[in-house]
Amino acid sequence: MNLSCEQVPYSRLAEEFGTPLYVYSQSALTEAFKGYTDAFAALEPLVCYAVKANGNLSIIKHFASLGSGFDIVSGGELARVLAAGGDAGKTIFSGVGKSEAEIEFALNAGVKCFNMESIPEIDRIQAVAARLGKTAPVSLRVNPDVDAKTHPYISTGLKANKFGIAYADAFQAYQYAAQQPNLNIVGIDCHIGSQLTDLSPLIEACERILLLVDRLAEAGIMPEHLDLGGGVGIVYDNENVPDLNAYARAVQKLIGTRRLKLVLEPGRSLVGNAGTLLTRVEFVKQGEEKNFVITDAAMNDLMRPALYGAFHRIEAVEPTGTEPFTADIVGPVCETGDFIGKDRRIACEAGSLLAVHSAGAYAASMASNYNARNRAAEVMVSGTQSRLIRQRETWEQQMANETACL
Ligand code: LLP
Repeated sequence: MNLSCEQVPYSRLAEEFGTPLYVYSQSALTEAFKGYTDAFAALEPLVCYAVKANGNLSIIKHFASLGSGFDIVSGGELARVLAAGGDAGKTIFSGVGKSEAEIEFALNAGVKCFNMESIPEIDRIQAVAARLGKTAPVSLRVNPDVDAKTHPYISTGLKANKFGIAYADAFQAYQYAAQQPNLNIVGIDCHIGSQLTDLSPLIEACERILLLVDRLAEAGIMPEHLDLGGGVGIVYDNENVPDLNAYARAVQKLIGTRRLKLVLEPGRSLVGNAGTLLTRVEFVKQGEEKNFVITDAAMNDLMRPALYGAFHRIEAVEPTGTEPFTADIVGPVCETGDFIGKDRRIACEAGSLLAVHSAGAYAASMASNYNARNRAAEVMVSGTQSRLIRQRETWEQQMANETACL
């Protein structure tokens, strides 16, 4: 069996565009998006795709064409949304350290809401809005202190994390924000972590936030929207993942008769399993203790295994006729941490093409030039068609902003 993306064989894509190569299925993106809008239909949610998962302009444009809003965390992400034709009025600006310049850019662009994460940030947004003679639509990101039960590096909703305003301080922070002349409170927000495999922390967070909504209402502070963030996990190996229909039903029940519009900020669950990283085997090397399959993709193309010990399924794209053996799949980067998979059974030889699955999210967007490697190309497949959506970088481009001066 030869593997393909929609109707285009991976082998043809690798020949045409070279490797390493990120390949995305457009219909998988559409299906994932519809998964949200269908499940949550009764709540008419605004799904704000978290651009950090994959900020390629074609991916943003595709989601925009489906009616998506966007969750951004930097001026650069906002610039991408605007360049791809996304709607600033459906864009939420999250993140703990927004600069004055970024706030000004977003205010002028007319974003839907700033998720504010601290008192000093409230002061900063108020000051920038006053200077520009504008009113900033705002919400507070509340840290509900629930355990997302995910990898500690991607858990964000605990007291010990840098994100959001502590649950115990949130009421007062809202009162403080409500006193600012250039801020208009439009929402309430939380995001407790990423790659959640269990629904219960998401529900618990929603419950806690709604308790706060009720307390705020008594004080005359009425957020119009409830933003539950992202975090829904995907299958990399054989994990259980939250069922969107069950999530939607639980949220609907919890919201009850409150007049709140729902906003969601999914990233990984919209793009993760729509993408694959194709890589060519350079060598098979027998070490003293282990075998190594050395590929042309490395940690700079897919950092997740090195950073979180993350698992990505890897398989040969075409049968090779060789016997399977156990090996570490590693890249050419000069780091012991440069691995894509450990102790994998695989049948391959030099020249074989491998597919590294679930590489649509936090792969290309976290890529770097480490070891002066060019960033890989990206291709979008739709049916029998494939389009290059990011050219392979060149050495000249890598060096373009540098000067060799004495
Ligand atoms: N909203 C906010 C405020 C976020 O910080 C994030 C992700 C999302 C939404 C989207 O979360 P998702 O639906 O993708 O779980 N690099 C890590 C993941 C970091 C997630 C950061 N925040 C990884 O590769 O696993």
